[in-house]
Amino acid sequence: MIQSDIPILPPGYRLIARDEVGSTNDEGRALIAAGVAQGAVVWAENQTSGRGRQGREWVSPPGNLYSSIILHPAVEPARLSEIAFVAALAVRDAVSEYLPPEVPVQFKWPNDVMAAGRKIAGILIETERLPDEARTALIVGIGINIVSAPKETDYPATSISALARAPKVGRLLSALVAALDRRIDLWIRNGFEAIRREWMRHAYGVGGQVKASNGITGIFSGLDDNGAIIIALTDGEKRHLVSGSVRYL
Ligand code: BTN
Repeated sequence: MIQSDIPILPPGYRLIARDEVGSTNDEGRALIAAGVAQGAVVWAENQTSGRGRQGREWVSPPGNLYSSIILHPAVEPARLSEIAFVAALAVRDAVSEYLPPEVPVQFKWPNDVMAAGRKIAGILIETERLPDEARTALIVGIGINIVSAPKETDYPATSISALARAPKVGRLLSALVAALDRRIDLWIRNGFEAIRREWMRHAYGVGGQVKASNGITGIFSGLDDNGAIIIALTDGEKRHLVSGSVRYL
């Protein structure tokens, strides 16, 4: 960690900074097993085996943000999956602070964040049973491209530095955790509907053709109140997909 770039976190969060790790999500899991409480923020300068969703690799050179935040939100277990959208809104808030207002920052279902039509951040949510408790802890892993973006990806990627002046990593982490804290508070107080509506307002490609990872092709027509993507088939039938990913056609 560079001395002049120490993140400032809201009350209730605690920084765990590392130079190099395999994956910050794995560090987070080990900390949960060791009894680390809600609010631990694991931050690494680089990852040697960063993971993405669906078993993909997340290439993690120094200069970008790699962090996993441990949360035990006070919501029913059935609602824990909503955190994916809460976290996506928080990432959008943080990234938007450093991009010119004319650059659109949008979502690709379920929780990719895109800037100017290219992926700028990814979120990998994992769960772990709390030792000696029936409750589940969430490991909210977030990667944001600040100074570099991978080239050979399924979907074109970008970074903050390709669009604006890059912030220091610790500064961006401060903005991210503050935004996440705010968004979680609103989610717990007001429920998922406001999150769903805001996510839809900034969704990329609504009304366009998509192909889902289960093979369904149709029109991306909405997000339901469980966070499933709604895809309208040519005969008008609507399918709700709860997990997987989509590709824009
Ligand atoms: C995706 O878009 O597929 C999700 C990418 C998530 C990457 C982050 S970087 C910090 C945390 N540690 C990991 O190994 N993955 C997540």
